[in-house]
Amino acid sequence: MNEFLFIGIPYLAVAVCVIGTIVRFRGDRFSITSHSTQFIENRWLFWGSNSWHWGILLILAAHVAPMIAPGWWQSLLGEPTRLYILEVTGYGIAFLAAFGLGVLILRRLLSESLLALTSRADWLLLVVLAFQVATGIWVAVAYRWGGAWYPDAAVPWLRSLVTLQPDIAAIAAMPWPVQLHAVSGFALLVLLPYTRLIHAITYPVAYLWRPYQLVLWNRRAGRTHEPAPSARQATAARPAARAQLDERS
Ligand code: HEM
Repeated sequence: MNEFLFIGIPYLAVAVCVIGTIVRFRGDRFSITSHSTQFIENRWLFWGSNSWHWGILLILAAHVAPMIAPGWWQSLLGEPTRLYILEVTGYGIAFLAAFGLGVLILRRLLSESLLALTSRADWLLLVVLAFQVATGIWVAVAYRWGGAWYPDAAVPWLRSLVTLQPDIAAIAAMPWPVQLHAVSGFALLVLLPYTRLIHAITYPVAYLWRPYQLVLWNRRAGRTHEPAPSARQATAARPAARAQLDERS
């Protein structure tokens, strides 16, 4: 059973993630986006999305850092005051992420337009993320000083998976809530190619050099059934946007 949980599931999840992402990229490249809903509702999104993304990205960094630089991590936490500060900061960041995710979920539940736009895959992703954050907070609170034990409990197992020499001794000895949190994290890899979570691997890369986007609202034409003005007419009053259009044509 342990082999299935700590070797089978991780490799299966990585395979589904890699193959699914390649298939989606080759077959449906333009669907690879976060499917922003900012134009439907912005105020809740600001608080939810910022809190969530800052929180989750810092937490992910703290999960990855001991894998990449175990010596640096151990020396960082070698002193009790620093360990204490990291523990408290970790709680703060985890609650920031939980708050943000809560706002994002409520936002979709409370707005009729957003509810109509939310697919089953969106709900599944939000529920799995909520489960993962909840089990993470549970583990952090129930088994204190995670920054100190995580490098010995999970890092050897994760590194052994990466080097294709699986060694599950460390993770198999951990309490079951820790094991649950570790294994359910791989569900997110399975969901990645089939949900909007795909943006997590594309956004940071593509944002650096993607072309400038010009979004035009044409409310007047919608109301009066007039023909939509061309992009050139619509930007006539905005010299910067106009200059960009001229440059491209
Ligand atoms: C640097 C990395 C990332 C960037 C730049 C980024 C950016 C974005 C953007 C622009 C949106 C759309 C917000 C909107 O306008 O509706 C979004 C939504 C979302 N992101 Fe990320 N993201 C990143 C990483 C992640 C990660 C690592 C996760 C989860 C582990 C995640 C989970 C989500 C979820 C669940 C939504 C949908 C929120 C909703 O509309 O309900 N993102 N992200």
